[in-house]
Amino acid sequence: MATLIRGGTVVTAEHSFRADVLCADGRIQAVGGKIDMPAGTQVVDAGGQLVMPGGIDPHTHMELPFMGTTASEDFYSGTAAAFAGGTTMIIDFVIPDPQEPLMAAYKKWRGWAEKAAGDYSFHVAVTWWDESVHRDMGTLTREHGVNSFKHFMAYKGAIMAEDEVLVNSFSRARELGAICTVHAENGELVFHLQQQLLKAGITGPEGHPLSRPPEVEGEAANRAIRIAEVLGVPLYVVHNSCRQSLEAITRARNEGQRVFGEVLAGHLLIDDSVYRNPDWNTAAAYVMSPPFRAKEHQKHLWRGLQSGNLQTTATDHCCFCAPQKAAGRTDFTKIPNGTGGVEDRMAVLWHHGVGKGRLTPNEFVRVTSTNAAQIFNIYPRKGSVSVGADADLVVWDPAASRTISAKTHHQQIDFNIFEGMTVQGIATHTISQGNVVWADGQLNAVRGAGRYIDRPTFAPYYDAIRRQADARRPRAVPRAAAE
Ligand code: URP
Ligand code: ZN
Ligand code: ZN
Ligand code: ZN
Repeated sequence: MATLIRGGTVVTAEHSFRADVLCADGRIQAVGGKIDMPAGTQVVDAGGQLVMPGGIDPHTHMELPFMGTTASEDFYSGTAAAFAGGTTMIIDFVIPDPQEPLMAAYKKWRGWAEKAAGDYSFHVAVTWWDESVHRDMGTLTREHGVNSFKHFMAYKGAIMAEDEVLVNSFSRARELGAICTVHAENGELVFHLQQQLLKAGITGPEGHPLSRPPEVEGEAANRAIRIAEVLGVPLYVVHNSCRQSLEAITRARNEGQRVFGEVLAGHLLIDDSVYRNPDWNTAAAYVMSPPFRAKEHQKHLWRGLQSGNLQTTATDHCCFCAPQKAAGRTDFTKIPNGTGGVEDRMAVLWHHGVGKGRLTPNEFVRVTSTNAAQIFNIYPRKGSVSVGADADLVVWDPAASRTISAKTHHQQIDFNIFEGMTVQGIATHTISQGNVVWADGQLNAVRGAGRYIDRPTFAPYYDAIRRQADARRPRAVPRAAAE
């Protein structure tokens, strides 16, 4: 069935204009003033509202096996909750155990994700190295639409990638035209500080931020950036939480390097006082890495978004309920790391970004959708309102408001890090593949309707990188042969 979104103002990354949008066969068929409606077209009244590209959350972990348990949100419930907040695509992570073949892990995650209601794609983590990893990276990029590889510089003794792995993987990614991404924390330092804190008798969640100070993140971000610089590979630093990592990114960008930065909605708005909550369950519910930071850092992160040094917003949606968090009751290092938010990112960003004058509506579209589509090379199929693009859209009422609560959210987690926050500006309708999947508080998510989205290698910025590298290629000095 065709769907016409009528009477709204289309807001894209570039401009805003009055237009109707016709969707059919999963695609946008027309954008304009007077569109002929095929018989039987469903009409969505967008009068007084904005019509934007559906949100892309480039960092989620649905049903992730992690720290002895499995994230409580699965691919179906998670993509459905995302619809309720105007997000129509996620990029999740395949995370192989050390020594687990990449292809085997990839196939396992593809199987889990078949239940997704919305479109999805996968970054694949490189957690160890040998010739088979080198080969599988090739297979994933050439045959399976993977164009980004993730590296955890933290989680020592589990999935942490040492510098040797980074160097091997970054070099391989460069050959294949993929982008590297990093979770930037110095895992060795984190481990050292954790042991010191436990020895000093600090066993509660307050130990979590103390064991992961901003310097630990700044160091790792800078190290990854410099490795990427030497190897000439584009780099995307996930969940920047502090001034130190932002400074490393900003410095590199000012030097002309292709480095991209992501910030989580939570890091923009929540500070580290949460870890000192006298209620253990509440404090533990906020345990995620990198941790929420002293308020001072939020100002820098917002400025990073405003200046364009940070390009994307995500959630790192990785849900663990209270009984799961309780695994760390006597030792904070055993609290499963992760918080939710895939449903709330867009509204929180609109309210505190556009509502407070930090972002224009067009900039909001960039940081919630278009930039992620461009960096991960699925633009303009995703992240745009243009003829031929996937009909993934959100109808946004800038005047309506709601109060965020775990009691009313659709996420499969018993806690909401934004609990009690009233936001103005909400998704009234979400359209996925041309279908209305969220309308005025009603979810119509269909299990299994989501599609795996292939992402081609050699994104447009690769050409610039190649030309730069060509100009800098080491050249031998021609000399006369010795007598
Ligand atoms: O605490 C977090 N962020 N958990 C998920 C895994 C990761 O580091 O992104
Ligand atoms: Zn991470
Ligand atoms: Zn400062
Ligand atoms: Zn993550």
